[in-house]
Amino acid sequence: FVIEKPENEPILTYREGSSEKKEVKERLQELKKEVLEIPVIVNGEEIQTGNMGKRTSPEDHTLLLAEYHKAGSEEIEKAIEASMEAKKEWAHMPWEERAAIFLKAADLVAGPYRATINAATMLGQGKNIHQAEIDAACELIDFLRFNAYFMAEIMKDQPYSPDNTWNRMEYRPLDGFIFAVTPFNFTAIAGNLPTAPAMAGNTVIWKPASSAVYSAYFFMKILEEAGLPKGVINFLPGSGSEIGGKILPHRDLAGVHFTGSTKTFRYMWETVGKNISGYRNYPRIVGETGGKDFVVVHPSADTRPIATALVRGAFEYQGQKCSAASRAYIPKSLWPEIKEEFIGLTRELKVGSTQDFRNFVNPVIDKPAFEKITSYIDYAKESEEGKVLYGGTYDDSKGYFVDPTIIETTNPRFKTMVEEIFGPVITIFVYEDDQYDEILRECDEATDYGLTGSIFAKDREAVIKAQRVLQQAAGNFYINDKPTGSIVNQQPFGGARASGTNDKAGSKLNMQRWLSARAIKETY
Ligand code: SER
Repeated sequence: FVIEKPENEPILTYREGSSEKKEVKERLQELKKEVLEIPVIVNGEEIQTGNMGKRTSPEDHTLLLAEYHKAGSEEIEKAIEASMEAKKEWAHMPWEERAAIFLKAADLVAGPYRATINAATMLGQGKNIHQAEIDAACELIDFLRFNAYFMAEIMKDQPYSPDNTWNRMEYRPLDGFIFAVTPFNFTAIAGNLPTAPAMAGNTVIWKPASSAVYSAYFFMKILEEAGLPKGVINFLPGSGSEIGGKILPHRDLAGVHFTGSTKTFRYMWETVGKNISGYRNYPRIVGETGGKDFVVVHPSADTRPIATALVRGAFEYQGQKCSAASRAYIPKSLWPEIKEEFIGLTRELKVGSTQDFRNFVNPVIDKPAFEKITSYIDYAKESEEGKVLYGGTYDDSKGYFVDPTIIETTNPRFKTMVEEIFGPVITIFVYEDDQYDEILRECDEATDYGLTGSIFAKDREAVIKAQRVLQQAAGNFYINDKPTGSIVNQQPFGGARASGTNDKAGSKLNMQRWLSARAIKETY
C-alpha cells in the first residue's frame, strides 16, 4: 500500500450548461425542501437530546435549514468514554488502514457528494458556488489526501541502526483524546481539524460551529459511509462554553485542534494552564485564530493587478476569511489610479443570494456578525478621521447583507485599520512615497496579529526590506498577490503572534503535532 503524492483537486467551473452546475442546482432545490434534524453522534449512535438549536440560512430569514440537538453533560461524558474506548483499537490499527478510510472519504466528496456538500455550504454559510467549490470540495479533498501522504512521509523518517540492533521510531498517537473545535468560515477546515488527528491514530470529540453545523453534519455522514469506526470521531453540536468547559479540564485531554477567535483560543490556554497539574500529559494546543491582514504597496509596484487583488482579497466570501485583506497602505503617487480602478471594480460586484450564481458578494454569517460589522461601518461614517469611499450600506430585511465597503483614513491607527472586523470592509491609509520604511514598521507594529499579508513592488530591494521588517507580521506572506487563497501543499497556512501557533494546516508539521514518537531499540 503506497501512498503516492497526490495532485491538488481540480476546481470545477460551474459554467452555464455544465453538468456540475445542473447537479448543484438540483441539490439546492432538494435541500431547501426539507428541514434536517441533526443529532449528536457518540460512539456511532445518533442521540436526540431534545435541547434544540436552529440553523436558518443567512441569506433568507424564512429558510429554516436544520434543527440540531445540543449535547449536554451526559453526552459529553459519553463522548469522552467512547473516544477512550475506541482508541484501544484505533491506535493500534496499521496507519495505512486508517488512511484508507480518509482517502475513501476524499473520493466520496470528490464524486457522489460534491454537489451536496457544496450546496450545504452555500445555503448554510452563505458562500457562492465558486467559494464553496474551492473550500468544501477542493480544499477538503486536498486536506484528506495530503494528510495521508504526510503520514507516509513521517513514517519513513527512521533512525540509524548499527550492527546487531534494530532502532526504530514508532509514531504513536497522543495519550488521551483530542478536542477539535471548528469554525464556520471553511467547511474544509471544519473537516481537517478532527480528521488530521484521527488519521494519526487519535480519537476525537468534534464540536462544530453552530453556524456551520449543517455542512459539518453532511461531512460527518460521509466519514461514516467511508467506514470510520464508531467512537473515533464523536460529533457534538451545542454550546461552546458548556462543551469546552467540561472537556478542557479533563484528565485525558491530549490535544486541542482549533480554528476560531483569538478570545476563545486564549480562554482555552487559560483553562488548560489553570488545570495543568491535573492532566496525564501536557495537552498540545494547536490553533489558528484572528488576523488583521495587510496589503502594502511600494511606489515601484505594477499597479495592474492591485485593484483586483484588493477586491478579491477583501470581498470574496464577504471578507470572512481569516486571511482577508482588511488594511492597505498605498503610496500617494499611485493612489488616484488604484482608487479609481478599485472603486470601479467594486461597483461591478453583484450583492445577493447564493442562489443566483452571478452574485459575488453574499450574506454574512449571522446577526451578531452583521451587527459587529455594521457598527464598524457606522463608526467610520461618524468619525472625522474616516471616510467611506464606497459602500457603507447594509440591509438585514431578508438576509444579512452588507455591501462591500472601502474606507479611507488619515490615521494609521484608526479603529477599522487595526481591529479585526471579519466582514466586507477594507481600510486604506495613503502614505507619502518617501515614507516606505516607516510604513513597513507601522504595518508591523499596528496590531498583534500575524496571519497573512501582501507586498506589491517591482523594486527587489523594497521586497527584501518588506520581508525583513515584516518577518513576524505574517505566517503567509505574498509578493505581488492577494493575501487569501492558500492551497494545501502549496502555501501551508497559518500565522503566529496573536494569530495562532503556526502549525500550518495541511502540512507534515501539523501531522507531527498529533503524533508522539517512541524510540525503540532492539538488540539481537
Ligand atoms: N486558507 C484560507 C485562505 O488562505 C484561509 O483560512 O484564504
